[in-house]
Amino acid sequence: MKLAVLKERIVGETRVAITPETVKKFIAAGHTVAVQTGAGTGASISDALYKDAGASIAKTAAATLKGADMLLCVRRPGANVLNGLKKGAGLVGLLDPYDDATFVRSCAAKGIDLYAMEFIPRISRAQSMDALSSQSNLAGYRAIIEAAVIYGRALPMMMTAAGTVAPAKTFIMGVGVAGLQAIATARRLGGIVTATDVRPATKEQVASLGAKFVAVEDEEFKAAETAGGYAKQMSAAYRKKQAELVAKHIAKQDIVITTALIPGRPAPKLIDEAMVKAMPPGAVIIDMAAERGGNCTLTQVGKVIEKHGVTIAGFTNLPAHLAAATTALYAKNLLNFLPLLTSEKGQYGPDWDDEIVVGANLTRAGKVTHEAFIAKKKPAAKKTPVKKAAPKKTSAKKPTAKKMVVKKATTKKPAIKKPAIKNPNARRAKPKKKES
Ligand code: NAI
Repeated sequence: MKLAVLKERIVGETRVAITPETVKKFIAAGHTVAVQTGAGTGASISDALYKDAGASIAKTAAATLKGADMLLCVRRPGANVLNGLKKGAGLVGLLDPYDDATFVRSCAAKGIDLYAMEFIPRISRAQSMDALSSQSNLAGYRAIIEAAVIYGRALPMMMTAAGTVAPAKTFIMGVGVAGLQAIATARRLGGIVTATDVRPATKEQVASLGAKFVAVEDEEFKAAETAGGYAKQMSAAYRKKQAELVAKHIAKQDIVITTALIPGRPAPKLIDEAMVKAMPPGAVIIDMAAERGGNCTLTQVGKVIEKHGVTIAGFTNLPAHLAAATTALYAKNLLNFLPLLTSEKGQYGPDWDDEIVVGANLTRAGKVTHEAFIAKKKPAAKKTPVKKAAPKKTSAKKPTAKKMVVKKATTKKPAIKKPAIKNPNARRAKPKKKES
């Protein structure tokens, strides 16, 4: 197979889909690799390093894509790229398809087979391919580092001859992959760490990392986890109780990292303006849920702002802030996934019996395959005879308003339910077998 890797087009995306290490492994497996010049710059990988590893360097995207059987990318490529790919080629990346279902459909129309790395099922066998985890892990680490840089004091307690510096009180909201790494990093730096989540399983995980768990632990909390291990939407009553608890707690925190997400929904709002106002001056909030609308009501997507003496950072692509490391892991995720898309003869040939391939696949041989993007047929409009203009007598006292409503109803088409756009996690929420 000829594998192609382009320079990422999204502003601020410093990652790249291949490293010299994975180039060597792909070549050893019998593939050829073409990399667009400058593709690795943001991740500190020069063309020369790719060349030394055995890749060919092409000047333009079109030259890189010529004859390619598979395009490996970090983010969704542009339409011009699709035009350069041959029919029947594969395209693998963090495609964020729910953000642009048109992209999925146009790939199907062009006969390109799409695979979204976000959709790789979270089963043990696929752990080495789980790009959500590899990227979130490093993003959680980076969130603490960003907070430490913005925060005008130190994280650890410092006892010096000139006096003692108190340790930073650090609160992590949402204890998934990113949250766990944020806890571990803040602990390593010497902060006093507390954390909250709506999934009861996280209580033990938080304690195992040496942090304190803070949450309303009522009956609803005890049942607040889906079969796939994801968070459920909590009731308004629970959210109110939790908000009261969090408000008291947050008023004493120096650093807050928010990572709370619920599959298929906008990020839950956990911090409002009054809570921000109550925080100590100089406090920092890193809102890792910014891309999904943010966990703090004041977050501005992609911006670092100051409000009521508190800095609120709405970074949208923390993995790109440490591209050399995230690239190394992401490229390995792709390296581990590719054998499932390769025939015994080394050609593009996915194993359609493999649940990982099926789980990640969005389009195949010109058709959309993923249920979330298959447009449901409109139900046929109910044929109801429309009454003629001259209905029964109407008295002057009783105006026709009621009748008009009835008439309107008879001609109205039935409401057409739009196909539900689910979150990538929705599919993963029902793995055949829950493994961790
Ligand atoms: P995520 O990115 O979907 O959400 C982050 C965290 O926010 C979750 O822990 C969630 O419970 C929490 N959250 C949601 N609403 C909240 C609220 N109102 N207040 C506080 N916290 C709230 O999570 P991520 O990192 O994708 O992990 C989700 C699950 O997947 C976890 O159970 C994790 O252990 C599991 N997982 C399994 C893997 C495997 O290979 N088996 C690999 C990685 C994760």
